[in-house]
Amino acid sequence: MYPDQPFDLVKLENDFDGIHFGIYANHELTGVVSLFINDRIGQFRKFAILPEAQHQGLGKQLMEYVIDFCAVQKLTKLWCNARVNSKEFYTKFGFYETDQTYTAAGFDFVRMELLID
Ligand SMILES: CC(C)(COP(=O)(O)OP(=O)(O)OC[C@H]1O[C@@H](n2cnc3c(N)ncnc32)[C@H](O)[C@@H]1OP(=O)(O)O)[C@@H](O)C(=O)NCCC(=O)NCCS
Repeated sequence: MYPDQPFDLVKLENDFDGIHFGIYANHELTGVVSLFINDRIGQFRKFAILPEAQHQGLGKQLMEYVIDFCAVQKLTKLWCNARVNSKEFYTKFGFYETDQTYTAAGFDFVRMELLID
């Protein structure tokens, strides 16, 4: 996520309210994402694959798993604040871009949403 920053930067105040998913490759935790649900709307945060394991399809598997999980839980919407340089990753799954943007920790973000069937 932020490999050059202190580990505490990825901790969230409401981490205990989240559902945390991981993907393993060769028995090693290789990717993570945290889901927070309110009123049948899910927000995922801290989605990251280890740098050396990126672009091998693991992020896609993890994203598909979370979307399926949201459908089984009968959520209506899933959203995230996407890094602008990763937004095409999300459009592949049907996420659409909103006009809500901001900058933090040196990255530009845009809110992206997916309606769940
Ligand atoms: C973004 C991230 C989670 C994607 O995971 P990944 O395992 O590298 O992605 P995958 O290999 O599963 O890629 C799936 C598809 O998305 C594409 N893709 C991957 N990263 C992309 C990016 N940053 N921008 C656009 N497309 C991307 C791949 O080319 C692939 O396309 P294809 O199916 O047409 O071949 C990962 O690169 C990462 O952890 N990046 C650093 C942290 C970060 O940016 N997290 C997201 C915060 S919003």
